Amino acid sequence: MKTTAIPRFFLLSLLLFLSLFLLTNIRYHRRPPPPVPQGGGQEDHLGSTQDLRIRPGYSSYDAYIRRQLDKTLNPKLRKIWTTRDWDRKISVFSKHFQKLQAENLLKNSSKSLCIGARVGQEVEALRRVGVSESVGIDLVPYPPLVLKGDFHDQPFKNETFDFEFSNVFDHALYPEKFVGEIERTLKRGGVCVLHVTLSRRPDKYSANDLYSVTPLKDLFRRSELVRVRKVDAFGLDTEVIFRKKR
Ligand SMILES: C[S@@+](CC[C@H](N)C(=O)[O-])C[C@H]1O[C@@H](n2cnc3c(N)ncnc32)[C@H](O)[C@@H]1O
Repeated sequence: MKTTAIPRFFLLSLLLFLSLFLLTNIRYHRRPPPPVPQGGGQEDHLGSTQDLRIRPGYSSYDAYIRRQLDKTLNPKLRKIWTTRDWDRKISVFSKHFQKLQAENLLKNSSKSLCIGARVGQEVEALRRVGVSESVGIDLVPYPPLVLKGDFHDQPFKNETFDFEFSNVFDHALYPEKFVGEIERTLKRGGVCVLHVTLSRRPDKYSANDLYSVTPLKDLFRRSELVRVRKVDAFGLDTEVIFRKKR
């Protein structure tokens, strides 16, 4: 009895060891799944520079929107944005807008839109510096400053605005649509001001990474570049200004 029980025990242990080894080996050497195509072909279309990269990882447009809403709808953060942060941000935005007024790029009569305005500090800033016809859009409305609207499909007629401002280019999953919508809703001669970051990687909610101004120049097909300058704007370091051709 004893002489057959020992080899059987060894055989069983060996089999168990081999199966465990194979299982762990397969798990650790499994290749990651291929990236999900984002559609729209932006990477190819944006051409030679490769200075604009769409982040992989969004399985669908809904998944992208859900991720954006995760932060924007956070009740604790909304409380902070509308109390502690409220005046501080408005005063920084106001200074940026006053500079643009001094350069005649923004007028008190400019019908203005802020894109991705969240709770609307930039809209409030525009109104405080005298640009009274100003409104924002965001996935989540914050009336009366911010209306509900997706920047990939702005809820406005062609040639509505004289001035558009945005500091959320990095949140665009489809940069071509983001810019196409700006150029559609801007009047001829209208001005678009973007605050972007070129040197720092934006937060985990960003949908693209921009490494130079070149892709913006390519995307703004119906506009001319007015100027690029360094700014200090809530972690964003570059102001890029375009004027839609007349
Ligand atoms: C970094 S926050 C900027 C908020 C605001 N501009 C500020 O400086 O306080 C990005 C904003 O973009 C909005 N957003 C993201 N994707 C959007 C989309 N597809 N259409 C409209 N807004 C969007 C988010 O809801 C969020 O409020």
